[in-house]
Amino acid sequence: MRECRVAIAGFGGVGRAVAEMLLSRRERYRQFYRTEVSLVAACGSRSGISDRAGLGWESLNSFETGASGPDFILASGADVLIEAGPSDFRTGGPGLAYIASALSAGMDAIVISKGALVHSGRHLRDLARASGARLKISGATAAALPTIDLLDYALRGCSILRIEGILNATTNHLLHAMSSGGMGFAEALAEAQDAGFAESDPRNDIEGWDTACKLLLLANFGLDADLTMEDVSVEGIQSISEARIAAWRAEGLVPKLVGRIWYEGGTARASVGVQALDQADPLAHVTDNNKAIRITTDFMGDVVAMGGGSGPTATAAAALKDLEHILADRLLAAERKD
Ligand SMILES: NC(=O)c1ccc[n+]([C@@H]2O[C@H](COP(=O)([O-])OP(=O)(O)OC[C@H]3O[C@@H](n4cnc5c(N)ncnc54)[C@H](OP(=O)(O)O)[C@@H]3O)[C@@H](O)[C@H]2O)c1
Repeated sequence: MRECRVAIAGFGGVGRAVAEMLLSRRERYRQFYRTEVSLVAACGSRSGISDRAGLGWESLNSFETGASGPDFILASGADVLIEAGPSDFRTGGPGLAYIASALSAGMDAIVISKGALVHSGRHLRDLARASGARLKISGATAAALPTIDLLDYALRGCSILRIEGILNATTNHLLHAMSSGGMGFAEALAEAQDAGFAESDPRNDIEGWDTACKLLLLANFGLDADLTMEDVSVEGIQSISEARIAAWRAEGLVPKLVGRIWYEGGTARASVGVQALDQADPLAHVTDNNKAIRITTDFMGDVVAMGGGSGPTATAAAALKDLEHILADRLLAAERKD
């Protein structure tokens, strides 16, 4: 039986869901990957807990003050980091130091927060390449909706000509409420906030930054581009008027916040903005909190994925899908060695 020791940095809604799901799947990991997976550390911003023998669910309620930070994770003996801290694409956020130190030490990293990947993606990819560590980012790229995996696995070998995505559930919910429920922007936002579908500070979503972050990650990690946020033209939904929505509706068009990547003279370009889609377009039928991606390839045609759950549990499941890819990879590498 092989061993895999996991540490979780960032223990809010998503970090906790990752821990619970990971502990409940240990038998599956033994059966499919012949690997004893243990959780050896978890931490928030100021406290945490570690045990090289493996933590159970009960011990995760007794964090010790001061047990936190990249060095704490390194000292835990983990060989996989799952990073689930707050995201800040302008600074890289606290995740940056955790991910950089893990990758430098050769630890595989599964990253859920987008900030560090957007801010320092090239640097982190270089660190991973230099140490041979794996860097997996499903949780940061629309989580339960398969996006980066389509590029990395399903469409491998094809040239990607274009990507269009509805990558933010909150803005899709708001636009859907405005165009089908006849609400104005402020009313739709207040209702979504009451129902817990929109954050109390919704700017990151409604101004298009969250979509832009995901798009950048798909371009840089999935298509090996080198875009920064300055390269992306970003428009949100905050100034879409009721009159504009009504005019689109009268023409049978459906407004969606769409992130696009395309090529001009061999260089990747990206933009985020509202597009009024024809009913014949499958993306026009992505309703409520759903997301979707359409990838146009040279030989496999157009591929559309749609749906995917949202929230901490769905996000945790996406991160643990990344863990299974790592376990499968490690098993294969070990078998090749024997
Ligand atoms: N919620 C979702 O459905 C969802 C979906 C996709 C992606 N994500 C991403 O997943 C990440 C986590 O989301 P969440 O909903 O779990 O957020 P959350 O509930 O606010 O939890 C954030 C956690 O990060 C911890 N943290 C802050 N600074 C830290 C530091 N320096 N070192 C270690 N931990 C630190 C916080 O610790 P304290 O409690 O001690 O402050 C808290 O435990 C975010 O980046 C989010 O964008 C979330």
